[in-house]
Amino acid sequence: MDAFVIQGGKRLTGTVRIHGSKNAALPLMAGALLTDEPLILKDVPDLSDIRNMVKLLKTLGCTIDSTPDLGTTEDGLGVDIKLHANDPTKSVAHYDIVRTMRAGICALGPLLARRGYAKVSMPGGCAIGDRPVDLHIRGLQQLGARVQLAEGYIIAEAPGGPGTKLLGAHVFLGGPNGSTVLGTANVMSAAALAEGTTIIECAACEPEIEDLAEMLNAMGAKITGAGSPVVTIEGVDALNGTTHTVMPDRIEAGTYVIASAITNGDVVLENFPTRTLTAALDRLRIIGVEVTNLNQSIEPVSDSSSGPIATLEPKLQTLPGIRETVRVSTARRLEPTHVVTQPHPGFPTDLQAQLMALLCLADGNSVITEKIFPDRFLHVPELLRMGASCTRIGPSVMVTGVRELIGAPVMASDLRASAGLVLAALAARGTTTINRVYHLDRGYQRMELTLQKLGADIQRVKGASV
Ligand code: EPU
Repeated sequence: MDAFVIQGGKRLTGTVRIHGSKNAALPLMAGALLTDEPLILKDVPDLSDIRNMVKLLKTLGCTIDSTPDLGTTEDGLGVDIKLHANDPTKSVAHYDIVRTMRAGICALGPLLARRGYAKVSMPGGCAIGDRPVDLHIRGLQQLGARVQLAEGYIIAEAPGGPGTKLLGAHVFLGGPNGSTVLGTANVMSAAALAEGTTIIECAACEPEIEDLAEMLNAMGAKITGAGSPVVTIEGVDALNGTTHTVMPDRIEAGTYVIASAITNGDVVLENFPTRTLTAALDRLRIIGVEVTNLNQSIEPVSDSSSGPIATLEPKLQTLPGIRETVRVSTARRLEPTHVVTQPHPGFPTDLQAQLMALLCLADGNSVITEKIFPDRFLHVPELLRMGASCTRIGPSVMVTGVRELIGAPVMASDLRASAGLVLAALAARGTTTINRVYHLDRGYQRMELTLQKLGADIQRVKGASV
C-alpha cells in the first residue's frame, strides 16, 4: 500500500489547473445507459473511482474507450471517454464492484428507465456513515417501479415489466439530513425517459446535479429547475448521444485553496468553479483567506500594431463563475470561526476535514458541526497525534488553535479525512507519513504531483506502514 511522506513547512507557490469533477463525472458516466448512441465525456479525472465505474459499466453492456488510457495520465490533464451502451441484455450491477464504489448506485435509475429492469447491489455503509439508499428506492417507486430487496440486491422493474416505461409523478426526496445528491441524479435520469411529467421536490441543489441536467438536456431530455429544490422533467421517448465537458471539481478546488492558505502560500488556480464554492469562500474570508478572480482584472487593450483589440493574456480562459482563474492570499493571523456543513449552497461536508486542518492553526476556538454525515470525523484522532487540540461532542468538534502542528505517522480510512491530514502535514514541523493513500487516489488525481509542482516536499513511497 502506498504512503505519502511529507516534510512540512514549505510555502506553496505556482499555478495548477483544477481537474474535472469526480462527483459530477460518476453520474454522467451512468447516463450512457440511457441511450443506444455513444456518449463522449471530456476532462474526466483519472481516478480509481472512475476506473471502477468503467469496470461496472462494461459489465452492464457498455463498450468504453478513453484517450489517453485511464491510469496513464501523468498529472494535469483529464481523459476523454467514449461510452456506448450497446448490449442491453446485461442489467446486473454486482456487489464486488459496487462495494468498492458507492456511486455504482447511479446505474439504478438509468438501467430501470431504459430497460425496464435493474438489479443493483446495495452499496452498504462506509467509513463516513451508514449511507442508506431508501430515498433512491422511494423516489423510483413513486415513478411506478416495483422494487424488492433480495440477497443484498435491489431488484427493480418498470410497472408493466421489463421493456416498459416508468411513469412521471410527483416525487419528494427529503430525508433526515436534507435531500440526496445521487438519489436526485437517479430519479432525474430515470424520469427523463418516463411517460409524462415528473416534479421532484426537495431535490438536491448541488452543482453536479446541474451539470447532469445540462448533459441530459443536450441528449434531448426536457429538464428545468436543476440546481434548485424543484426540478421538472417532461419525459421523452428516447435520448441521443452527445459530447459533454465535465465541470471542474469544487472539492479539489477548495482543497488546494486551503493548501495555499495553510502554508501561507501564493497559489494561482485555473479552471476554478467560484460560483459553486460561495459558502466555503465566505468562511475562508472570515478566517483570513482571500480568493481573488484574476479574470476580472484582464482588460482588453488597444494595440494599433495588431489590430483594434488584443487581449493582455489570451491564455486565461474564463467562463464566469465556473472556469475562472483565481489567486489565493492569506493573512498572517488566521481567525477562528464556526462552520456547519449543510446541503448545497451551504458549506460542503466534503471540505470539512480540510477546513478543520486549517482551523487547527487559527488564533482561538472554532466549532465545526457536521449535519450531513454526523460521524465523519476520522481525521480528528489523527490530527490529535499531530499536536492539534480538538474536542468532539456528538456531531460537533471544538478546535482550539495551536501554535504549530508536529509531523507524525498517521492514517485515515476516508478520502476527505486523508486530504485534511495531507494539508496538516504541509504545515507541520517535521515529517508526516500518511498511510493508505489509496483513499486519496479515489478522489484526487496524482495529488503528490500537483503539490510537488507547487513546491511541497511530498513523496509517494511503496509499502510504508505506520
Ligand atoms: N441519505 C438518506 N437516504 C438516502 C440517501 C441519503 O438518508 O437514500 C442521507 C445520507 O445518509 C446523508 C444525506 O442523506 O446523511 C446526504 O447523502 P447523499 O445521498 O446526498 O450522499 P451521496 O449522494 O451518496 C454524494 C457525494 C459524497 C458527498 C455527499 C453529500 C458522490 C459520488 N458522492 O454522496 O461525496 O459527501 O453527496 O454532499 O457524488 C466524497 O466525494 O468524498 C463524498 C463522500
